[in-house]
Amino acid sequence: AANLLHRDELMFSYKGIPYPTTICSPEAFKALESFEARSDDVILAGYPKSGTNWLSQILTDLIAISQKKTLGEESGNAEEPEEFPYLEVGDPEKYERMIKLPSPRFMVTHLRPENLPTSIFKNKVKILLLIRNPKDIATSFYHFSNGLATLPSYETWDDFFTDFMSKKIAWGCYFEYLSEWNKYVDKENIMTVTYEELKENRALGVKNIAAFFGIPLTEEELQLVVERSSFQSMKKNSEKTHGAFGNVLFRKGAVSDWKNLFSEDQNEKMDKMFEECLAGTKLGKKLKYDVYCK
Ligand code: A3P
Repeated sequence: AANLLHRDELMFSYKGIPYPTTICSPEAFKALESFEARSDDVILAGYPKSGTNWLSQILTDLIAISQKKTLGEESGNAEEPEEFPYLEVGDPEKYERMIKLPSPRFMVTHLRPENLPTSIFKNKVKILLLIRNPKDIATSFYHFSNGLATLPSYETWDDFFTDFMSKKIAWGCYFEYLSEWNKYVDKENIMTVTYEELKENRALGVKNIAAFFGIPLTEEELQLVVERSSFQSMKKNSEKTHGAFGNVLFRKGAVSDWKNLFSEDQNEKMDKMFEECLAGTKLGKKLKYDVYCK
């Protein structure tokens, strides 16, 4: 294909992990190291394609509801300086601008804990950790890479699978990502949620997330957040919220789409990788690999 973008031209490496040059930079990563987190920041952590835009919708709605109650209706819609919520995406001056943002600041990150600014853990910022079964992550990432000019494209699914399994894709190896986060899951300021459990029961998921962040919800408010975060309504709204990018982002929103791509051999390879890296861990168990990946 004429417009095929090669991975080596589109990626740089920082502390051994590849990132897309189109949206990240070593200068911003350096500046991020001294970013001062606040104890009332709200952080969503998730590997790319785990459903971070979905949870962002839920969290921003919850924050808005909570703000309305503390500030009153009028002050709730004051013009705030907007900043792209992905922590590691943007120019190095972004963190200076973030100092001026009012609390609670909402931020999303695909980074592993050891690459996050240490102030996040020092100040015990609450983190919602979102995980998704690795086969659907790979499937979603493949379609996303080919739909987006800022990421390398792949001629075949097999090529993508090879890169996914050999740590060559943006934000690095998903299995390593989960192993690193697994060291943090017992901390009281971290709550883990899976894509699959949210698909199963969104109302329960939203309720638990609101409780974790200490946001009281009436039954009506809960229903509103649940309704606004359905795949259908987010997809319908996506032109407004995400522009042309919406079509690529809200692709299928389903569990087990991997069954349309994985070969017998690829299944075996990933099952083996899971067994070696994660099977015995807390996050590994949370993923319910036998239910969602077999
Ligand atoms: P698929 O490609 O499998 O459809 P991220 O936001 O982290 O990039 O994740 C994108 C994935 O989340 C996509 O998966 C997308 O469809 C799915 N997604 C987005 N909104 C969703 C929703 N409201 N319900 C379920 N899945 C959603």
